Amino acid sequence: MKKTIRFVLNGYEVTAEVAAHKMLLEVLREGFQLTGAKEGCGQGECGACTVLVDGLSVNSCLYPILEVEGRSVTTVEGLLGEGNRLHPIQEAMVENGGIQCGFCTPGIVMSAKALLDEIPLPDEARIRRGIGGHLCRCTGYVQIVESIRRAAEKMAAQGERDS
Ligand code: FES
Ligand code: FES
Repeated sequence: MKKTIRFVLNGYEVTAEVAAHKMLLEVLREGFQLTGAKEGCGQGECGACTVLVDGLSVNSCLYPILEVEGRSVTTVEGLLGEGNRLHPIQEAMVENGGIQCGFCTPGIVMSAKALLDEIPLPDEARIRRGIGGHLCRCTGYVQIVESIRRAAEKMAAQGERDS
């Protein structure tokens, strides 16, 4: 059975005709061609599908699409600035070797975004907890943690300069 849902996607109001049993990840990738969020395990265990719903990170592979009605969804594509400028978290991942194959990266970037929105300068333990739901088969996590730490510092410095 199909239903019409309305929600905000990366800052724009959208309407979608969706099969009621679908998960958010499928609709993002197949309905909106937003392929940043990946399907790894499909079972809530790897974090590759992470997006933000009302600012909180969720596993979109397990998030029923009908729950999205009236909410605000942000995907990694929604983090790009003017002229497709990378978000500071993405820049830091590039600069500090936080990316190898890149499969886990969009999900980790979204969890890092949720973390830094809540705690602008988290310590290492808090960063590790913030990405605790993500599996990365390549990096060994050290560079990812370092990338998030440096992004936090840069964003805090930028905030001070702008204030
Ligand atoms: S694909 Fe969603 S948690 Fe692995
Ligand atoms: S960079 Fe390859 S899975 Fe994380």
